[in-house]
Amino acid sequence: MRKIPVKILNVNGGKTEIPCIGMGTFGSDKFTPEQVASAVKGGIEYGYRLIDCAAVYGNEDTIGKALNEVLENNTVKREELFIISKVWNNMHGKGDVLLSCAKTLKDLQLDYLDMFMVHWPFPNHHAPGVSVDSRSPDARPFITEEFMSCWRQMEKLVDMGLVRSIAMSNMTIPKLESVLPLCRIKPSAIEFELHPAFQQEKLYNYCVEKNIQAIGYCPIGSPSRPERDKTPDDIVATEMPEIIEIAKAHNIHPAVVCLKWAVQRGQIPIPFSINNYKSNLDCVLIDPLTSEEMDKIKKADKNCRLIKGQVFLWESATDWRSLWDE
Ligand SMILES: NC(=O)c1ccc[n+]([C@@H]2O[C@H](COP(=O)([O-])OP(=O)(O)OC[C@H]3O[C@@H](n4cnc5c(N)ncnc54)[C@H](OP(=O)(O)O)[C@@H]3O)[C@@H](O)[C@H]2O)c1
Repeated sequence: MRKIPVKILNVNGGKTEIPCIGMGTFGSDKFTPEQVASAVKGGIEYGYRLIDCAAVYGNEDTIGKALNEVLENNTVKREELFIISKVWNNMHGKGDVLLSCAKTLKDLQLDYLDMFMVHWPFPNHHAPGVSVDSRSPDARPFITEEFMSCWRQMEKLVDMGLVRSIAMSNMTIPKLESVLPLCRIKPSAIEFELHPAFQQEKLYNYCVEKNIQAIGYCPIGSPSRPERDKTPDDIVATEMPEIIEIAKAHNIHPAVVCLKWAVQRGQIPIPFSINNYKSNLDCVLIDPLTSEEMDKIKKADKNCRLIKGQVFLWESATDWRSLWDE
């Protein structure tokens, strides 16, 4: 059985391990829950141990059946898995975080989560399928007190033993600066967009400095992301000349170069894949990139954010950059 290298999380006195690569489960409105659950089952049979789920992906109940199967047939023990889920933006209110966690646990057929995240740092949400330009009248900018009221509920879930660690997603340095001093239980990880065309050097280094594990979403540049998340200026990581050149030198797909880069840099990539999950896992075990190749990718950063989050903007906001404190 493949032994995937692990990283140590800053929880439980440094005794908690997390695999250096995981599997994403957002079907991007294109893949059915059954397709995603089948990849999860096949992935765990192949050696994946970290699965990145979320209530809003609408497939946790189907993934739960797959998890139940691999646990029941002894493919894997529960303590060998690292399961992440996230509370959606419409469940930040008093008492709602517990309800959301309970629903996720029921759907995933688990007694506890290894990590529970606040998916976005505000309660703004939108009806499924709305256009990117639509604005919810209830949407508002980030408010520290509002976020902390959600975080207090996350901390309580740790006290209750329902989740082993808590984390945040889609944060910025200014937002982290405003909430970290107020946290009784600090986030063990921050999940954010990370790929060769969007390396977020400052935020990444900030996490390293604070001993917070960076988890990188869209590690391949999310080629199958929903149309609402695409703009003409987007740069595709797998089409960057530097990535293609390195892929040719190693005789591998450019997507695999993105994953090797992520793991060697130190973030945990969580690629989504229905068709290539085996090679994505194998790639961290063999044929590493050279330090010259790592350096070449570092210099190729395009500062190109793909997941802009326009649908979460409030009515008076003029530009998606406001969401990211730019
Ligand atoms: N926290 C957040 O707000 C947030 C936001 C976005 C995403 N996420 C998480 O991050 C995960 C990953 O992001 P993502 O799904 O948007 O994008 P991604 O992992 O960057 O890209 C997935 C796409 O890459 C293709 N691919 C994967 N491996 C490949 C390979 N070796 N060769 C060629 N193509 C390959 C897949 O196609 P095949 O299926 O054909 O392999 C799939 O279409 C999500 O599933 C989700 O769990 C979190």
